[in-house]
Amino acid sequence: MKYQVVVPAAGQGKRMQAGKNKQFIELVGKPVIIHTLMVFEQDEDCAGVILVVNENERVVFEELVLKHSIHKVSSIVSGGLERQHSVYNGLLAVDGVEIVLVHDGARPFVKQQLLSKLVSAASESGAAIAGVPVKDTIKKATNANKVVETVERSSLWAVQTPQAFRVSILKQAHEKAVEDDFLGTDEASLVERLDHEVIIVESDYQNIKLTTPEDLVFAEAILQKWKGI
Ligand code: CTP
Ligand code: MG
Repeated sequence: MKYQVVVPAAGQGKRMQAGKNKQFIELVGKPVIIHTLMVFEQDEDCAGVILVVNENERVVFEELVLKHSIHKVSSIVSGGLERQHSVYNGLLAVDGVEIVLVHDGARPFVKQQLLSKLVSAASESGAAIAGVPVKDTIKKATNANKVVETVERSSLWAVQTPQAFRVSILKQAHEKAVEDDFLGTDEASLVERLDHEVIIVESDYQNIKLTTPEDLVFAEAILQKWKGI
């Protein structure tokens, strides 16, 4: 089933401390955002990529897309102050498909087989997100770091992108968030507020988001391993 994907890339990458948007950091000679876009370029069910960028960086993104022959970018739209605003701007450009994926530009190791599982699950249930079982023991603590309790781990998931939705549901969820002035950290949290069910599709631990400097070490290691296969 065909889908379009919104790729937010309009952040500043402050936690990466690279002095530039982390989308432009090179891994084995290619910028992070190109690694991410290549996955969708090669997925035959992907009917278009809506890339969300900071207006100041538009030209740089346009040049990269051209240079690396990414043909599926159907529009480049302006981002907002928070990730949620950027995604909403992208969502307004989605057209002619029933299913939309949202996937962080800074998450370059997503596998094609996960995309098709998410699309199927979202077309059945309306909302499906990638996640992995939490590996660490999780404790809840006070502001003074005093442990309150150990949280039962078997029901905990660390959630990633892609997150896949029926377009009408995600639009409704965003509209309600605007109305209520609600800011969530992922799209699913907006959909949950509609009391609509969200299904987790098990992903893998390599689908990391490049957030802090050590993530680049993990990224290089993942790419080395893939080259060795
Ligand atoms: N993003 C966006 N618009 C924003 C903020 C974030 O499009 N206003 C994008 C980022 O470019 C990234 C994704 O959302 O691809 C996930 O966000 P995050 O990892 O937080 O990236 P940054 O906001 O760039 O990093 P930081 O929070 O460390 O500044
Ligand atoms: Mg951020």
